[in-house]
Order: sequence, then C-alpha cells, then structure tokens
Amino acid sequence: MTVAPPSSEKSVPLVHVYADKAALVAAATDQVIELIRDAIATRGRCSIALSGGSTPKPLYQALAQTELPWDQLYVYWGDERYVPATHPDSNAKMTRDAWLDHVAIPADNIFAVPTDTDSPEISAERYQQSLMGSFNTSSKDELPQFDLMLLGMGDDGHTASLFPHTLALKEFDRWVTVGNKDGQPRITLTSRVINQARHVLFVVAGANKQTALSQVFAPTADSAAYPARLIAPVGELRWLLDLDASQGLPAAIERTVH
Ligand code: 6PG
Repeated sequence: MTVAPPSSEKSVPLVHVYADKAALVAAATDQVIELIRDAIATRGRCSIALSGGSTPKPLYQALAQTELPWDQLYVYWGDERYVPATHPDSNAKMTRDAWLDHVAIPADNIFAVPTDTDSPEISAERYQQSLMGSFNTSSKDELPQFDLMLLGMGDDGHTASLFPHTLALKEFDRWVTVGNKDGQPRITLTSRVINQARHVLFVVAGANKQTALSQVFAPTADSAAYPARLIAPVGELRWLLDLDASQGLPAAIERTVH
C-alpha cells in the first residue's frame, strides 16, 4: 500500500537523547511547560493534543504539580481507544487521573473524544465537529493548527493510532478517522492534521523501540510499515529519546546527548 503524505516542507527533526527514562520525562516536562508558556505569551492561548500509552503518564503527573495559566490551556487528544471514558484503557481517563483532575483547568477547555456512541465512525465524526467548533472553522479544509502535538511511538512504528498498513494512513481528507489496532477500533487525528502543528514532540523510551526508530529515521523505508515516518510537520519536530531507544538511530542521525 503506498501512502503518500501531502507534500509539506519536511522539517529537519531535532533529536535529543537522555540517560534514562526519568531524565527523558523530566526534560520532556520542562519543554512542554516552556512551549505552553510561549504559546500563551504569543497567542493568548495554547492548544495541546496529548498522546496516550505509558510513557507520558509520569509527564502528566509532573504537570499536575506545575503552576500554569490553566484557563488559557486547551487540551485535546491525538487519539483515543473506543472504550467508555471510565474504562482503564481510556487515554482521557489516564490523563485526568494523572493530571487534569488535580489542576484548575476549566472543564470547557478539555476536549475528550466522545466514545459513548453507536460506532467508532460516529465518534470520529463527532470529534471532528468538536474540533471544528473549538478552532472556529467552518470548513474541514481550514485545518486546525495545534500549538503542541505530544506523540509516542509504538515498537511497531505507529504513532497516535496510525497503525501499520491500516486505512487510517491513507486518510488525507478528514481531520479525525478510525484507527485499527489488531481489530480494536481507535479514534485518531490524521497525519494531515498532526502535520499542521507548530511543534511536534515525540517522547520515546526503551530498547524495544530501537528497530522502529532505525526504520523511521532510515533514508528510505515504507511509511505504511512505519507510520511515524508520516510525521513531517510544518512546524518544529523534536524527538526526545532515552539512551536505550536511541541505540536504534542510524549513525548518520545528528543528536544532542544530555
Ligand atoms: C495510545 C498512544 C500510542 C502510544 C504508543 C506508545 O493510545 O496508546 O497514543 O500512540 O503513544 O503506543 O506507547 P508507550 O508510551 O506505552 O510505549
């Protein structure tokens, strides 16, 4: 399956390597805080799309201990599992438990994916409508520009819920589509929307990510097999890795080791 992302000036990724996961999370937390503050100082608000999974949880817990102008922060998710909001697999539940329930962010500033619907397709459509309202656009061709897109990467090279060899990779019209992980439906932003972001921050830890990283950063590889290759934002692209994960990088890839 050929997957050709819309042509966008491919951003040169900035790669930073940290000794271990704790150092990685600490650095990622500092950078997220800085980017949130910069967006609010510049535009009066910050729109951040969050990732799920296990890596960002300690980052969210650290943000819960931070003082920020919460009423100027608008929180979205890059993807969500098609489960009830109370389900242990819910990304929104994980984020609320770790962070959002512990700070004074207005409920109206939190845009969770509606999963209490009759189908994942309806959830995707409703989330797209919710985003269009929040970004105050009347046409899906006026793409939203998130200030910060926080992403993880699976050991198969997926990001958000853009899984290898799935139809979601070929969706370049909609903002939100249905992803598929081994038959389990997910709701996900499309690569087209992710790539509009001002800043994309990948936070990736663990030796099990080495193979996928070697392919994502290879000069040529199949983006359908390693969907994180589709992420080439118009804005800044940062990869924050721990040392274990970074061992997968091709030697030619420049990196800053902290
Ligand atoms: C999700 C995430 C997903 C995650 C990767 C990495 O809903 O699970 O959005 O894209 O970032 O699977 O997960 P880990 O951080 O647990 O390795």
